[in-house]
Amino acid sequence: MRRRTVLKAFGWGIGGAVALGGGFGAYYLGAKRDTVGKVAFDAALSIPALARSQRGASGARVFTLGIQPGETRFKAGRATRTWGVNGTYLGPTIRARRGEPVEFVVHNGLDEETSLHWHGMHLPAVMDGGPHQTVAAGQSWTPRWTIDQPAATLWYHPHLHGSTAEHMYRGLAGLFIVDDEQVEPLNLPSEYGVDDVPMIVQDRAFDGDQQFAQREPLAGSLGVIGDEILVNGTIGPYFDVTTRLVRLRLLNGSPARLYHFGFSDDRRFSLIATDGGLLAAPWQTDRLYLSPGERAEIVVAFEPGERVELRSYPAAHGGVLGRLDGFDDRLDICQFRAAGSLSGDAAVPAVLGAAPDLAGEAVAQERSFVLASNQINGRSMAMDRIDFGVREGTVEVWEVTNDNGYLHNFHVHDVQFQVLTVDGGAPEPHLRGWKDTVLLVQGRRYRLAMRFRDHTDPNMPYMYHCHLLAHEDDGMMGQFVVLGAGEQVGVPPGQHRHP
Ligand code: C2O
Ligand code: CU
Ligand code: CU
Repeated sequence: MRRRTVLKAFGWGIGGAVALGGGFGAYYLGAKRDTVGKVAFDAALSIPALARSQRGASGARVFTLGIQPGETRFKAGRATRTWGVNGTYLGPTIRARRGEPVEFVVHNGLDEETSLHWHGMHLPAVMDGGPHQTVAAGQSWTPRWTIDQPAATLWYHPHLHGSTAEHMYRGLAGLFIVDDEQVEPLNLPSEYGVDDVPMIVQDRAFDGDQQFAQREPLAGSLGVIGDEILVNGTIGPYFDVTTRLVRLRLLNGSPARLYHFGFSDDRRFSLIATDGGLLAAPWQTDRLYLSPGERAEIVVAFEPGERVELRSYPAAHGGVLGRLDGFDDRLDICQFRAAGSLSGDAAVPAVLGAAPDLAGEAVAQERSFVLASNQINGRSMAMDRIDFGVREGTVEVWEVTNDNGYLHNFHVHDVQFQVLTVDGGAPEPHLRGWKDTVLLVQGRRYRLAMRFRDHTDPNMPYMYHCHLLAHEDDGMMGQFVVLGAGEQVGVPPGQHRHP
């Protein structure tokens, strides 16, 4: 039994934990990490290559993605055994336009099965790359669909039930940027790697041999919390700023860590897009939470010659033992070094996209989801059980609550949703855009509206789950199908109906 399960079973809080003995008390007191001033910032931020593609016979843009084992040198000394896509760690950034047919040749060069899921993408369930679309060792899988959603920063990662945490921890993940004609006239910073910068933020724990360690905090509740932060696979990165404005595409690609981003001088920045695309208008802030799986696009203004660091600040929402899971940490993440003169201007457009518009829609069905004890509504994920079906063309409202003392979030495949209310009130500004993953603060009620547009399939489910990977692997996940008129919930291929 994991230690966190023991503590949970006895319902112990900090008092109980400290009472376990002076050893644990000292461990608790020492569990707060502060790396400010201790990170060397001596490596240029690595920028993932843009994936190359070819025009296929069908007219689709075809990308070849090879999943492979390898070794990566993160720091001086021994290399680390890792997995990557078209490389040894992480994968290339895929870019495609709305309206474009795309096709992927996903080749699994590992000696075990895995999958690749397109997180945030609206597409047929059979192309989703979830636990029912595994790719056996040595085999290829060729999903294809037409991009049919607004410009956004999406991503891809394995989704093999029970092994998602391990496969992602080894290094499998990458960004998937969708472009469209709405975003281009806005004149946002958009030169990839120059003023439009991907930042895949991950934490890792290294063992004495410089290998990735699946090290969970003593009495932690979330899974691995690493003490080293990597951005695009670079430890202690710096980025050379050459323009007045820089857009950062932030992805929390960590197994469990919650980031509370801000800059070392507390400067304000503009949040311009959330998971599903542009906000209606930029939101000025000096702090931003990002839980595992969430993305944010922010625009930051720089002055010539300055240096400033992106950090993660101590976070609320940790619950009784939050410190053990990193909530009290203060972490230096990336240093920005501005050149003596900077090009471009410093204005962020006042109007960006269209606000989510589901609030006034007729609601076909309401559902409620309670997340507790690594289950949803008291049930664990079962590959052969489709939990429910939704009707094509309808809008549903899902009310989601985190009903225990630990951090969870909630991710839904196939759709982007609108956060209608949090505890009955208007959501905070950073929750007012399209989302596919939302942090669930303990005890709060989140009402999420979503439209199921098309791609009916009574047998092939989409997933909804907590995106803290240890929880997801533990079964904090369920399955739904999108039904056409008259269709009934079926059974996933290769499965037998659950008794
Ligand atoms: Cu990012 Cu179901 O996944
Ligand atoms: Cu997903
Ligand atoms: Cu969770």
